[in-house]
Amino acid sequence: MAQSVRVGVIGTGGIALRQAQRLAQIEDVEIVAGCDISKQNLSRFVEAYEVPHTFEDFNDMVQLDAMDAVTVCTPNFMHKEPTVAALKAGKHVMVEKPMAMNAQEAQEMVDAAEQSAGRLTMGFQYRLGPAAQTLKRFVNQGRLGKVLVARCQALRRRGIPSWGVFGRKELQGGGPLIDIGVHIMECAHYLMGEPTPVAASAQMFTYLGDREPAAEAPWGAWDWQTYTVEDLAVGLIRFDNGAVMSVEASFAAHIKDNVFNCQLMGEGGGCVLHPPTLFTDEAGTMINIEPGYMADYESMDKKIDDWIADIRGERPTQCPAVSGLNVQKMLDGLYASAKAGREVAIE
Ligand SMILES: NC(=O)c1ccc[n+]([C@@H]2O[C@H](COP(=O)([O-])OP(=O)(O)OC[C@H]3O[C@@H](n4cnc5c(N)ncnc54)[C@H](O)[C@@H]3O)[C@@H](O)[C@H]2O)c1
Repeated sequence: MAQSVRVGVIGTGGIALRQAQRLAQIEDVEIVAGCDISKQNLSRFVEAYEVPHTFEDFNDMVQLDAMDAVTVCTPNFMHKEPTVAALKAGKHVMVEKPMAMNAQEAQEMVDAAEQSAGRLTMGFQYRLGPAAQTLKRFVNQGRLGKVLVARCQALRRRGIPSWGVFGRKELQGGGPLIDIGVHIMECAHYLMGEPTPVAASAQMFTYLGDREPAAEAPWGAWDWQTYTVEDLAVGLIRFDNGAVMSVEASFAAHIKDNVFNCQLMGEGGGCVLHPPTLFTDEAGTMINIEPGYMADYESMDKKIDDWIADIRGERPTQCPAVSGLNVQKMLDGLYASAKAGREVAIE
């Protein structure tokens, strides 16, 4: 019989419902508590998953003895406080992406984990998907040689969320870069072997989100009057091993199609995530290698499985808190560079 794990959920909105779907499927995992400042969201959640304990304040919830772990599913500005409170109470924590509003907050979370009996896991899922795992095995076998360049793209033609607080810099920390760029950056960084970022340069543009929509948009009208984030971010990260990562992320850009992909270029080979393909030279020929079969599963499910296995001590997580911190440093560097108008160092 597997070790039982009793989970509490802080922030019971969209992503919490998705996480709960998987938690409820795992043997000997029980959702024992839910916490939200929205009564409506909380009651929808606890009714759907028959959750026995409810809280409005996470500081009360983390004191619950009959709870081993919490998942933090609140908006970005509210990641650090519940994470630190839960770690101080000795609980294991998984925090949704991005780790925090900035690297200073992320560092405080890592420090809290070091002083806690609980462990902190970063809720990244793209690295755990079938395509990324397939490519990672090739990278681990050295088929790319030294990785020189990663190219990350998370580009939406007109994908400004019309719900939530995604357009508000003070609550989210930024726009498409921190919200969707983060996904493809964490995946590419993982595939590269997580080199240490040392410098960033970027430029950000806002030219559509902060004014009345000029065209129909798939998600309807957004709140353009409170929109303070970038529409389009373009940047470059330099790493201590000489490799670089380019990033393009948009909520709105005049492009034909949305793009969500990354590509690695190494001395011995390259690869692209979607569809997963390896490019190399063999027998005097440039060849492209595609998997004949790939496992079929949802990366979000795998992220929950990975966390629970770590809590049970079955295997260490593939999404440690330090991965979240490193990505956060890159995001901070890109935003700081755009503000300063020059390349900035990443400490
Ligand atoms: N991994 C992914 O693919 C993915 C997808 C979507 C969202 N997310 C992340 O998940 C987080 C939440 O996003 P969402 O789409 O679920 O948002 P959401 O607005 O649907 O849900 C957030 C919930 O947090 C609650 N909340 C706010 N402040 C709170 C507090 N102090 N205490 C308790 N609850 C509080 C809100 O009332 C709301 O119910 C964000 O950080 C987002 O970036 C990740």
